[in-house]
Amino acid sequence: MKIGIFGGTFDPIHNEHINMALSAKEELGLDKLYIVPAYVSPFKSAYDVTQPVHRLNMVNIAFMDYPDVTVSDYEIKAGGASYTYKTVEHFKKLHPKDKLYFIIGGDSLGTFFNWANPEIITKHADIAVVLREGVYIETDKLQKKFKKLFNKDFIKLTYTGASVSSTKIRMTARFCLPLEGLVPKEVEDYIVKYDLYEDSPYIDYLKSVMTESRLKHTVNVVTAAMTKAKSLKLDEKKVYLAATLHDLAKYQNPDDFPGFVYKGIPKQVVHAFLGAYIIENVLGITDKDVIDAVKYHTTAKAPMSTL
Ligand SMILES: [Fe+2]
Repeated sequence: MKIGIFGGTFDPIHNEHINMALSAKEELGLDKLYIVPAYVSPFKSAYDVTQPVHRLNMVNIAFMDYPDVTVSDYEIKAGGASYTYKTVEHFKKLHPKDKLYFIIGGDSLGTFFNWANPEIITKHADIAVVLREGVYIETDKLQKKFKKLFNKDFIKLTYTGASVSSTKIRMTARFCLPLEGLVPKEVEDYIVKYDLYEDSPYIDYLKSVMTESRLKHTVNVVTAAMTKAKSLKLDEKKVYLAATLHDLAKYQNPDDFPGFVYKGIPKQVVHAFLGAYIIENVLGITDKDVIDAVKYHTTAKAPMSTL
C-alpha cells in the first residue's frame, strides 16, 4: 500500500490544506492518507496557537466524509515539540511493509535540511512537495542538494496551492467577517460555537465606520503586519493595534471633529492624520507609538521608528 502523511498546525484547517491533501493523495495514488496535527506548546498571548483539542476536532470535521483519510492524534498525544522524524518512524512501525510519502509545502523544503534527522525521514519516506502560489523556490538547486544528501529525489507534485494562510483566516474570524470559501461550513460553525478566535479590539467601532471591503483590506494589512512583527521582533500588541486601526478614518468627515485641524494636509492623507486624532481623542488610546504609526502610515516621516 501507499501511505501518505501530511502534518501541520492547522489553526484552523482551511480549504487549501484540504485541496493540497486530496490532490497529493490523487497524484501519488495513495491508499491511505494520515493528517497529523502538530502539538504546539500553549502560551498565553492572544496571538498564540489554539488548544490542540480544538485544532484536532476541526481537522476531524474537515475530513469526516473521506474514508481513506485518517486523522492521527499521534503528535498531539505525544506532546512536547513535534519532530517529523519521530512521526515518520511511528508510521513506519504501523506500516512496515508499505511505502510512505511525507507531504510538505514548498515553503518548508528550504528548511527541510535543517530539521532534526532529515536522513531518518528520507530513509523511511519519499518527500512529496506541494508548491504554493507566490512562494518561489529554486526547485532544481534544492533537488541537487537533496539528491546529494539523501541519494534520492523529492517528488514535485503538479498541484499548486493558492496562497491562503491560517493567519489570514484567524484574522478574518477576529474581524467577525464570514469565513465562507476559506474553511468548510462545519469548521466555520465550530469556530463560532467555541469562539476560538477572540474579537479584535474596537471591532464594533470599526464596523460602524468602515465598509466590509475596507475591513477585508484591514485583515490583509494586519496579517502582513503580524508576519513582519515576528521577523522584525516588534511588540506584537502595538503592531496589531496600529494595523487594526490604521484606516479607521477612511470614510469619516474631518468636519465632524471640531478639534481636528487639517489645513495644509493633502486630501489623500487626511484620513491618516484624522485616524491618529480619533484613536487618541475618541478611543482614548495613549500609546504614542501606535498613534504615530497610524498618523504616518501613508506618508512615512523622518526620522521614524521600525513600527
Ligand atoms: Fe490608509
